[in-house]
Amino acid sequence: FAAVDVIRAKRDGGTLTSEQIDWVIDAYTRGVVSEEQMAALAMAVFLRGMDTAETARWTGAMIDSGERLALHVSRPTVDKHSTGGVGDKITLPLAPLVATCGAAVPQLSGRGLGHTGGTLDKLESIPGWRAQLSAVEIGRQLDEVGAVVCAATDTLAPADRKLYALRDVTGTVESVPLIASSIMSKKIAEGAGGLVLDVKVGSGAFMTSIERARVLARTLVDIGTAHGLPTRAVLTDMSTPLGAAVGNAIEVAEAVDVLRGEGPEDVVSLTVALAREMLALAGHGDVDPAPVLASGKAYETWCRMISAQGGDPEAPLPTPAHVHVVEAPDTGVLTTLDAYAVGVAAWRLGAGRARREDPVQAAAGVRCLAKPGEHVEAGQPLLELHTDTPDAVPAALAALEGAVEVSESAAERPPWPATPVLETIR
Ligand code: URA
Repeated sequence: FAAVDVIRAKRDGGTLTSEQIDWVIDAYTRGVVSEEQMAALAMAVFLRGMDTAETARWTGAMIDSGERLALHVSRPTVDKHSTGGVGDKITLPLAPLVATCGAAVPQLSGRGLGHTGGTLDKLESIPGWRAQLSAVEIGRQLDEVGAVVCAATDTLAPADRKLYALRDVTGTVESVPLIASSIMSKKIAEGAGGLVLDVKVGSGAFMTSIERARVLARTLVDIGTAHGLPTRAVLTDMSTPLGAAVGNAIEVAEAVDVLRGEGPEDVVSLTVALAREMLALAGHGDVDPAPVLASGKAYETWCRMISAQGGDPEAPLPTPAHVHVVEAPDTGVLTTLDAYAVGVAAWRLGAGRARREDPVQAAAGVRCLAKPGEHVEAGQPLLELHTDTPDAVPAALAALEGAVEVSESAAERPPWPATPVLETIR
């Protein structure tokens, strides 16, 4: 093959053959296809798309660029992946909950980039906790505790690592076949027996319309099916942050509340809904996770999961050096608290990073003191901005411009759902 022929074929709207796909991904991983050639091909795919068979094959080629994690675990394994959101700490209560209900959860996670948070950044606010585990340690912890949340190993889908970095700088991230194959190559290589996808919809998500989110969900599920991995997708609301906490340590504290049988209603409801789907895939559909979560039993599994990775689950979490309060502008019903704006504010306050190698502040973030649908009084505290670097506050306030809307007419109160779950795709 010649790379230029593969690029031309996709540029002109053709369908790539399996042999072309296998060759181009392998040659790119080995450095035989250059970065500029892959950039051209990624743009051709972005503009022309790929059909279901091409996307499944592309995913397979990315899996084969590395190793599959061989999990030898006595319990059924099942994983969850979220397409990324604001205040999305669901993995933290979910993994120990599903483990407490009898399945094993190998959750290889990422770090935040841009306005969305990363699970590893959140957990690293726990003193002593370590993200990097070997394949042997992952297997042992899965058997002993039933839940592992850790960094992906370097050998998992290396083609995706290279391609993702290239897409990031060539305007080719927001392509359904490229996003779907990127996510699924890592999840299939991880080797869990089932997968539940939380596809976020709204201002704080990759997909801002439900139609686009449905297409992404369908594509993800079809790739799973093509590779023999039982997969379900749940579309969930990301127009406003999940729960009250957005940041790192502040989200860990909220997750611990949920694990103790307390915490915000939307976080509890989404954790339980995703746990039900995961348990059904793991053959434990008869177990109801709701009473298990309410009982606080999953908190014991959380403590074992954190301790197994060197963390002290009882240690005090870092607190911010500076807190700035934003007040409600009017009296009435809070109709909008925009997820994207709150995510950007938390990022500017230091919870996120601008470049992959930047550090994050454990204590930075935003606490939302009211949810859309609630009545607020002019001047009451609405948001708390947490940071160790008060110089960051003006940029966070600028990000929040227009993010809050209060309606004086109670008739305009939106019927705010108690659960963020919109629909399920199998
Ligand atoms: N997450 C991924 O892993 N890959 C993408 O392309 C987008 C989100």
